[in-house]
Amino acid sequence: MEILDHFSLKNFNTFGIDATARRFVAIHNIEELKAVLQHNPQDQIFVLGGGSNMLLTGNVDALVVHIDIKGKKIVRENDDFAEVQCNAGENWHQFVLWTIDQGFGGLENMSLIPGNVGTTPVQNIGAYGTEIKDTFVSCDAMDTATFEITTFYHDQCKFGYRESIFKNEVKGQYIITSVTFRLTKRNHKINTSYGDILAELEKQHITNPTLRDVSNAVIAIRRSKLPDPAELGNSGSFFKNPVISKTQFEEVSKKFPHIKSFPVSETEVKVPAGWLIEQAGFKGKRFGDAGVHKNQALVLVNYGNATGAEILDLSRRIQQSVYDIYGIKIEAEVNVV
Ligand code: EPU
Repeated sequence: MEILDHFSLKNFNTFGIDATARRFVAIHNIEELKAVLQHNPQDQIFVLGGGSNMLLTGNVDALVVHIDIKGKKIVRENDDFAEVQCNAGENWHQFVLWTIDQGFGGLENMSLIPGNVGTTPVQNIGAYGTEIKDTFVSCDAMDTATFEITTFYHDQCKFGYRESIFKNEVKGQYIITSVTFRLTKRNHKINTSYGDILAELEKQHITNPTLRDVSNAVIAIRRSKLPDPAELGNSGSFFKNPVISKTQFEEVSKKFPHIKSFPVSETEVKVPAGWLIEQAGFKGKRFGDAGVHKNQALVLVNYGNATGAEILDLSRRIQQSVYDIYGIKIEAEVNVV
């Protein structure tokens, strides 16, 4: 375990922001993590997973601890299910592909989401009709004060839309070291209810899709709409889709009859922020090296040398403009650091 000084984080955040860590260490197992936590004050530590959901707005004046714990194993199985425990440092998409190779179902709709396994429960990642919470069993996490490993079971995690206990009540108190998923071995629940998936499968003339067909369809849709961070820095959806009351929605629809919505509850609807941002005129716009993606207005991009502050500034202009037009507040989904 080597601690490096003045380390560039450019390759460690998918936005490709060239910020520097005062010190940096990659840890490969629980013992190394414990040693690092024991020897450094808590307020001097900054935990970094896959760097796919954060915007660095300046240099990080701390010891950046990159969680690089690899490995996965089947911990329980019967004829119907396999429970797979995957360590935090595994790349999410590679893990999803591995589960499909094993014939295990449940994660296929979340193919190609950037980032590492350890951060997936934090914001209950989701795509195309499926969220982590649908297959999540538990996760192990190190308590940063006692250095003990605690297991958090599903009902303790308080999962919501891009929400969990790890973003709220226990924020900063635990470092997730592994996640366990319960996956189907037969009678897979193929979920093609999200419109885009059905359309993509139809395009390929597939009527009875396998896990791999669904995964391939998701990969094709994502490639067509979402920029590849290896080619164009980004952090996926920069904003969450706002949830507003039906009353407010009805008011806004009077003025904007084409506004879209998805049901959430008896009293609330979700409005696609991508639509709001597009209508506000930002889709495909570029301001210096910061921009709004041409195919998906929810995604902010770094054309090369944008600073985190420039991207943050653009995000604030978008928020203000959407608020001025529709009276709807859109919140950032990424962590602004
Ligand atoms: N839309 C527009 N203009 C745009 C983008 C979207 O009008 O530029 C409209 C679309 O026409 C559609 C609706 O918004 O009617 C929804 O669009 P889409 O299916 O692309 O999904 P989204 O709500 O924009 C969410 C997630 C994505 C996830 C997709 C698919 C959030 C914040 N984002 O986006 O997640 O891939 O659904 O499930 O919930 C991510 O979190 O990083 C991410 C990419």
